[in-house]
Amino acid sequence: MKVILADYSGFCFGVEKAITTTFEELNKESKNDIIYSLGPLIHNDQVVEDLEKKGVKVIEDIEMLEEGSVIIRSHGVPQNTFNTAKEKGLNIINATCPFVKRIQNIAKTHHEEGYTIAIIGNPKHPEVIGINGWCDNKAIIVEEEKDIEKLQNIDRLCIVVQTTMSVEQYEEISKKLEEQVKEVVKYNTICLATKERQAAAENLAKEVEAMIVIGGYHSSNTQKLVDICKKIRPYSTFHIETAEDLPMDLLQKYQLVGVTAGASTPKWIIKEIINKLSNI
Ligand code: F3S
Repeated sequence: MKVILADYSGFCFGVEKAITTTFEELNKESKNDIIYSLGPLIHNDQVVEDLEKKGVKVIEDIEMLEEGSVIIRSHGVPQNTFNTAKEKGLNIINATCPFVKRIQNIAKTHHEEGYTIAIIGNPKHPEVIGINGWCDNKAIIVEEEKDIEKLQNIDRLCIVVQTTMSVEQYEEISKKLEEQVKEVVKYNTICLATKERQAAAENLAKEVEAMIVIGGYHSSNTQKLVDICKKIRPYSTFHIETAEDLPMDLLQKYQLVGVTAGASTPKWIIKEIINKLSNI
């Protein structure tokens, strides 16, 4: 079997930065100190387990902490989480991706100027929850077309989009939003890394017989890659987390297989999977 790895697979700039910042902090602390991460640092169970062994403990709520260091992951958090951490005197290690920080700033400044903020994205995703927290939780979250009904009596609208949404979804939904409101400013805040990764996966899916998409089952950007590949290879796209998940029986019949990986997938997992595939 010949295996081709798509360009831009694996860790993006923001995730790489969050991991590096965490390791720098781990090296600074004395061995007995625990660093807390507000939610799993990245959407990859294998990496999170490894970090836990090294002393990074995941907590779900800032209220659980009274002292120590807390890492804000690349997805960012609402403004009041920062305020609470400061009031408690916690050492804040801010690993918010600069691209996410930019969206938070857009939401905050436009909200202050009187715009209603529309976030195109998944309302349950921490990045979207975080952005909403920078505009007093007043944003309208639009995940699909039917959510557009939520826009009633709005004069000025500022549209932003979750960094990992597909360009197609953004264009479709933002166009519909524009038809509803008189004054609209829109920011395509989809991350370049996401766009490049999606385009590379799509192009590769057209060239090969089957696609392997590596990444956490709960990772939003990985799920988007799966959707993109499935549009081209509906019956031969496989979403896996580790080499053990490879459907070896089903893959036997293919000669040319493509591999792509979400932004939270470390190089060692990608390598392991490519090696296993190459041996078929
Ligand atoms: Fe940042 Fe883009 Fe990654 S927004 S966390 S560089 S996918």
